[in-house]
Amino acid sequence: MYAVAEAATTAYFGTKVYARGIVEFSNVCTKDCFYCGIRKHTKVHRYTMTKEEILACAEFAYSQGMGTLMLQSGELPSPERINFMLDVVRAIRRRTMDLACESPPFPSAGPNQRDFPSQRGLAVALSLGELPSSVYQAFLEAGASRYLLRIETSNPTLYTRLHPASHSFQARRKCLEELQRIGFQVGTGVMVGVPFQTVEDQANDLLFFKELDPDMIGLGPYIVQSQTPLGKLWLEEHGEESAAKQEANRVALLERTTRMYALARIMLGNVNIAATTALEALDPEGRELALRRGANVVMPIITPQRLRGQYEIYENKSGIDQDALDSTACLERRVRMAGKELLLDGGWHDPPHFVR
Ligand code: 5AD
Repeated sequence: MYAVAEAATTAYFGTKVYARGIVEFSNVCTKDCFYCGIRKHTKVHRYTMTKEEILACAEFAYSQGMGTLMLQSGELPSPERINFMLDVVRAIRRRTMDLACESPPFPSAGPNQRDFPSQRGLAVALSLGELPSSVYQAFLEAGASRYLLRIETSNPTLYTRLHPASHSFQARRKCLEELQRIGFQVGTGVMVGVPFQTVEDQANDLLFFKELDPDMIGLGPYIVQSQTPLGKLWLEEHGEESAAKQEANRVALLERTTRMYALARIMLGNVNIAATTALEALDPEGRELALRRGANVVMPIITPQRLRGQYEIYENKSGIDQDALDSTACLERRVRMAGKELLLDGGWHDPPHFVR
C-alpha cells in the first residue's frame, strides 16, 4: 500500500515537495470543540497579530521562496474581524505582487509565474473556519484563492460527540460545498485516532473525500490536550497505562495516520496532501514518513516565536522554541532525509487536480 502510494505521488510530483508558510495570526475562538486547545473555554492568553506583523510574515515567506501563505486562526465571525482580514488579504497580495515586479527574485520560478502572470507574489490560503457564503465570496474577490476547512469526521454522530450541540456537521459540510461553488481551491481533512472513532469511520472519511472531490487534503493524528473535555476523558481511560503500552499506542497511531495518507493518495490521485505538523508530536520523523507515504506538501509554521506557545491546539506541539528561519532550514534538511526536494521557487504549485 505504501509503495503504491509513493509511486502515485512520484508520478504526479516527482520528488518535489511544495512549501506553504503558515501564520497562526490569532487564537481567539468562539467555538468550543471538545478536543481543541484553543477552544473558547480553555484558559490561554488570547492574541491577535497586527496587520503589520502579518505582512512581515508574508514578506518573509515570499523572500524564502514559499509561493503560498496560509493564514489560520480560531473562528471569529465578527464584522470587525472580517473587514480586518479582507484588508490583510488585499495588502499581502498587493505587497508581494509589487515585490515580484520590482525585482523578480525567482527568474526560474515554476511554470505558474510564466504562464499565469496573475499568479505572482504570494498565493493566499485561508483557514478561518465557518463563515457565510457572502464572506467567502468577498475573500475570493480580495485575492485569496485557497481555503482549508477540515470536516474533522465524516460521521455525523461522531461529529456530535466531539462538538457542543451548537456546532453542526451539516453546516460545516455546506461551507465546503459553498467554497467549491464560489471557486476556491478547497482543502479538507479529518483527525485520526480521535476517541470513539472506528476503522469503518476512517473508511467512510476516505469515501467522503472521494465524493467531495477536494483539491487538497490536510489530515493528522488526534493529540491529547489535557485541558480539554476530550483530553480529560482520554486521560481517565489511558492516563495510567504503562510506558510500554503508551509507546505501542504512539506507534499504532502513527501507522493509522500514515495509512490514511497512503489511501487518500491512492484514491484521490492528483491532489495536494499535506504532511501535518501534528505528526511531529508523535515522532520527530513523522513528517518524513508521511512524505514517503503519499504526502507532497509541508507547511512550515512561520508564526513569530513569542506567540507560538499560545497556539497549542494540542500538546507537545513541535517548533515552539524555534523561529521561522530555523523552521525553514530544519524543514529543508528533513525533506532531503525523506529523499525529496523542497521547492522554494516562489511558484504557487496548484495541484494538477485544480489546474485541470
Ligand atoms: N489534536 C490534533 N489536531 C487537532 N486539531 C484541533 N485539536 C486537535 C488535537 N487535540 C486540529 C483540527 C483543526 C485543526 C486546525 O487542528 O482538525 O481543524
